[in-house]
Amino acid sequence: MIQERIESLRRELEEHNHRYYVLSQPLISDFEFDRKMRELQELEAAYPEYDDPNSPSKRVGSDLTKNFPQEAHEYPMLSLANTYSEEEVLDFYERTKKALGENFELVCELKYDGASISLTYEKGLLLRALTRGDGEKGDNVTANIRTIRSIPLRLQGKDYPERFEIRGEILMPWDVFDKLNREREEQGENLFANPRNAASGSLKQQDPAVTASRKLDAYLYYLPGDKLTSGTHFENLKAAQRWGFKTSDATRLCSSLEEVNAFIAEWDEKRKNLPVATDGIVIKVNSLAQQARLGMTAKSPRWAIAYKFPAERASTRLLSVSYQVGRTGAITPVANLEPVSLSGSVVKRATLHNADFIQALDLRMGDRVFIEKSGEIIPKIIEVDKKARAGTGDKIAFPTHCPECGARLVRYEGEAAHYCPNENTCPPQIKAKIEHFVSRRAMNIEGLGSETIDNLYEEKLIRNAADLYDLQVSDLEKLDRLGLKSAENIVKACGTSKSVPYERFLFALGIRFVGESTAKKLARAFPSIEALEAAELESLVEVEDVGERVAQSIIDYFSDANNRLLLDRFKTYGLQMARSAEQLQQQSRSLAGQTIVISGTFEHHSRDEYKSLIEQHGGKNVGSISSKVSFVLAGANMGPEKRRKAKSLGIRLMEEEEFLTMLREKSGTEKSPTQGKKPDAELQSLF
Ligand code: IVH
Repeated sequence: MIQERIESLRRELEEHNHRYYVLSQPLISDFEFDRKMRELQELEAAYPEYDDPNSPSKRVGSDLTKNFPQEAHEYPMLSLANTYSEEEVLDFYERTKKALGENFELVCELKYDGASISLTYEKGLLLRALTRGDGEKGDNVTANIRTIRSIPLRLQGKDYPERFEIRGEILMPWDVFDKLNREREEQGENLFANPRNAASGSLKQQDPAVTASRKLDAYLYYLPGDKLTSGTHFENLKAAQRWGFKTSDATRLCSSLEEVNAFIAEWDEKRKNLPVATDGIVIKVNSLAQQARLGMTAKSPRWAIAYKFPAERASTRLLSVSYQVGRTGAITPVANLEPVSLSGSVVKRATLHNADFIQALDLRMGDRVFIEKSGEIIPKIIEVDKKARAGTGDKIAFPTHCPECGARLVRYEGEAAHYCPNENTCPPQIKAKIEHFVSRRAMNIEGLGSETIDNLYEEKLIRNAADLYDLQVSDLEKLDRLGLKSAENIVKACGTSKSVPYERFLFALGIRFVGESTAKKLARAFPSIEALEAAELESLVEVEDVGERVAQSIIDYFSDANNRLLLDRFKTYGLQMARSAEQLQQQSRSLAGQTIVISGTFEHHSRDEYKSLIEQHGGKNVGSISSKVSFVLAGANMGPEKRRKAKSLGIRLMEEEEFLTMLREKSGTEKSPTQGKKPDAELQSLF
C-alpha cells in the first residue's frame, strides 16, 4: 500500500515536471505540486526501504532544451525552501536566531513569478545570460536577453566589479500577457496558461525578434559571489540599481519578525495592483558574512526562505460535467459550476483534465468544491468539500461513448485521456482539423475563423479540408454575416495557399504528434508525400525527433483510406505535396566536400536547423575542430577554447549572415539577407 502510494506520487510528479518544464503546460498549481512533493518526501523519510535515486524528490526540475548551447553556472542556481504558513516563517526566524547567536537583519522582497535568469557582466558589459537549466548548467539565451530593454547592456558608474553575476526574474507584464493570449486565440494557437510560461517560452525562441516582440521585463534580486562592493545584500541591491539594473522598490530592510509579518500582510494586498505576477515574499538574511555562516543544504540556502501567498480560493457547487472533443479526439471533461467570483472574475467552469483526475477527487454531482486560480487563467478544482456532502449525488461516471458522435471511446496505453476514434465523421474533430489546416503556421488561409468554419459545416458545404478548395464565392456569400468581399477574399486565400511549401502542408494535415518542426524534418528526409507514404517504420525512426510512437502515427495516417482519398484530392487541386525540383536541385551540392563545425548561438535559426542545412547542401557537420575542418559556422558566444583551437589551426570562422549569403549565392538565389525579407522566409528558400 505504502509502496504503491510512493510509486504513484513519483509517477505523478514526474509527469507534472515534464508538463511544467518541457511542455510549458502545467496541469496543477505550484501549491498542489509542493503538497504532493512534501507527501512523497515524508513517506520516503519514513520508509527508507523504498528509496530510489531516480525519485523526483532527488532532483530539481530542469528547463534545458536542445536548441541552445548549455553552459555551466559559475555558482549553482539554487532554489529556495518554500513555505505557505506564517508559522514556518516564525520557525525560520527562530532557527536563524539560534544559529547566529547575535543580532541580524532581514531583507524582505517580493517573489517574482517568472523565469529565472543569471547574467554575467565583464568590464561593465553584458557577457552572457543563462537560464536556470538544471541548476548546474543553463541554456545560453544571451541573444534573446539582449532584446529586453530593462536589462542594461552597458553599466553606469564605475564601482562595479570587473566580472560579476547578477540574478533575477524575466517577466511578462499582465497587460502584454493578456494581449498575446488574445492574439493567439484569434490565430487558433495554444494559449499560455500564465505569464510565467509565456515569459519562459519567449526566452526560448530561436528568433530574438520574436522575443523582442514579447515586451518582457526584468527585476534583479541577487548577486552571488564574494567580490561584491558591500558586505550586505541590501547595499548590493542599491549598488546594482545605481549601475542601471531594475530592482524592486518594494524591497525593505527589517529588523524584527513583526516587521516581516507586516511586510507580508501589506504586500498580499498591494501585489494585486502590480503590473507583473508575484507569488510570495522572499526573506533573506542581510549580512553576507552571516549568510556564509548559515550555509546551504543540498538544494537551498539556509539564509533565505520563500513564503508563498495562498492562492485565492472560492467554494462553489458542481452543477454538471460537459465533455469537449478536441482535434485529436481527446475528450476533456469540464465542470460547470455555480457562478462564483474569484480573483476579480466570475468563474463558471473549471477543467477536470481526465478520468483519473475526476476519480482522484472522488467527485460527485452536486458536490461543494474549492476552486483556485493561482496566476492561471483556467481555474482548477482543488478539493471536494466532503464535509458539506449531503451523500446523495451520483459519482461522476466518465462516458463510454463520444458525446458528439456516439462512437465508443478508447484509451491508449500510457495515456491519461480517452479518445473518440471516429476521426473522419465526428463533427468537432472535423471542424478542429479544418481550423488547424487553415491556421497561420499551416496553410495560412485568412478569413476562415472558427465561426465561419462552423457555419460552413452546418450548411454542409465542407466535410474536410479538401472541400475548402471547391468553395465558390456564391456558397460563401450566402453565409450569415459574410459579405461579398469576404467571400471573395476567402476563395482567393484558398487559391494562394496552393503554393504553401510542402513541409507546411505536411504540418497542416494534422497527423497526430507531427508538429511544425517534425513536419519540417520529415519533409527533408522524404521529399514527397509518396515517399513519406511508402516509408516503413525503420526509416521513419531514423529522422530526428521521430520515435516509434510518431512513426506509427504516420503509418496509421496513410493506412486510412479516407486520408488517402483526401490526399488524392489535394493533388488534383495542385497543392505542394513535394519539395520543388528547383529546391532539390539548388540545394544539393553547394557544400559538397566541406566539413563544418557549428559553434555558439544564432539569430536566424537553431543549431539543429543549420545542421540540416549543411547536410542538405552536401556538407558534413562535425562536433570538434581538427585540421580536416573547412570552416566554423560561428555564432555569438562561441566557446573560447574552440576559438583558440580554430585560430591555431588557421581555420576560418564564418559568421551567420556570411554563411547564409554564401549559400544563397551558391544556390543561385540572389537576395541579400538585409533586403527586407524576414530571415525565416529567406532560410525557407534555402531549405
Ligand atoms: S533569491 C539562492 N529573490 O524564486 C537564492 N529568488 O525558488 C536565489 N525568485 O529560483 C534566489 N523572486 O527564480 C530570490 N526576490 C527574489 C525572488 C526569487 C523570485 C525566484 C527565483 C528562484 C525561486 C526560488
